[in-house]
Amino acid sequence: MIIKGDICYSKTQKELKTVKGGYLVCEDAIIQGVFTKIPEKYRSFPLKDYSGKLIIPGLIDLHTHAPQYAFRGLGMDMQLLDWLDTYTFPEESKYLHIDYADKAYALFVKALKSGATTRALIFATLHTPATLLLMEKLEQTGLITMVGKVAMDRNCPDILRQESAEAAYISTKAWIESSLKRFKSTKPIITPRFIPTCSDELMQKLKHLQERYSLAVQSHLSESQSEIEWVKKLSPSTKTYAHAYEQFGLLGGGKVKTVMAHCVWSEGEEEQLIFDNNVYIAHCPASNTHLSSGIAPIRRFLEKGIKVGLGSDIAGGPHLSIFRAISSAVEASKMYWRLIDRDSPPLTLNEAFYLATACGGSFFSKVGKFERGYELDALIIDDSKIPTTNPLEIEERLARIIYYSDDNHILQKYVNGKEVFSSE
Ligand code: GUN
Ligand code: FE
Repeated sequence: MIIKGDICYSKTQKELKTVKGGYLVCEDAIIQGVFTKIPEKYRSFPLKDYSGKLIIPGLIDLHTHAPQYAFRGLGMDMQLLDWLDTYTFPEESKYLHIDYADKAYALFVKALKSGATTRALIFATLHTPATLLLMEKLEQTGLITMVGKVAMDRNCPDILRQESAEAAYISTKAWIESSLKRFKSTKPIITPRFIPTCSDELMQKLKHLQERYSLAVQSHLSESQSEIEWVKKLSPSTKTYAHAYEQFGLLGGGKVKTVMAHCVWSEGEEEQLIFDNNVYIAHCPASNTHLSSGIAPIRRFLEKGIKVGLGSDIAGGPHLSIFRAISSAVEASKMYWRLIDRDSPPLTLNEAFYLATACGGSFFSKVGKFERGYELDALIIDDSKIPTTNPLEIEERLARIIYYSDDNHILQKYVNGKEVFSSE
């Protein structure tokens, strides 16, 4: 297949590549390159002509909560721990009921499918039937995701607490086996909610399952100051919050692919451990603002060489759109530079776009760039309905799409070479 249009992607963290009227050539879902003329050997490939439309890589959501979608945009007047008790846990309790899960997950999956996201890491709840139902719905979309049945056995309402670490182990194992058998594009991921809700015994059992099935890991780390104080009390002998995961082998290193959401307050030895263990940080700027958690030092993380992707963190963040996360990441970095550290220049728009595409994408595989050998995830965007009197370069058109953050301009979406959504 060949896709023709105004092509745009991040070559590197700093450099955006644009080709007007370019040809994106793809063979068996793998990109062969971007050309200004179709090379002879590809002449016979079918051409999809999107002349005048923007063609960009699909966006990657490295952290979101499917069962929180139904209350997005509500209850943003509290900080993390009160917000969890007041809004989040009561909502997540409803997923015990499969009829409720069916309705609410249908809304989430529909929005994810028609939006700009092509791959995502998703928290579900601890309920096995509802989590499998979510995975089944996601599998039908053609999106590529990892989904976690959330593990928690302490410090949460009875209705969300597994009665023991052993019970959590048994049900998590059954869920992993069932999902590995049933789904191809929807993979299970080990998901301790965060240290406060997971006993040591539960963490040990999760490690066992992680190793046995070679699964990735996702969790939350150093999001808010009161959470960090709580972790210090719960794990007094560990050097940092990150070490509380690391002691169980659940913080990257070796072959354990790990994403930690937030890391707003990570520094010093914790930051070093994140880097040493090749842990990805899911930066969730909207959530960090709305729950008053703080501003994550993303410039410093990038300079250290830590890999950072973006997350919507629904419903800590009110928007599922990763376009919105890109603009929020830039805004937050400007405030960080202005108010906290004048040696931390703000992220440029290109850099934040790179985090949402190439950097986040690298967690999954070679995805997020239009270069030879990469898997084709692409968005075809019609920006003609944002009128202006000015002629615009491709880079400027991308900026408007990002700052408008309106997924309604998406005409078509391709994931791993297949069209998964069309607005027509
Ligand atoms: N920490 C533990 N659980 C959650 C959650 O659901 N959302 C956010 N933002 N942080 C958390
Ligand atoms: Fe979260």
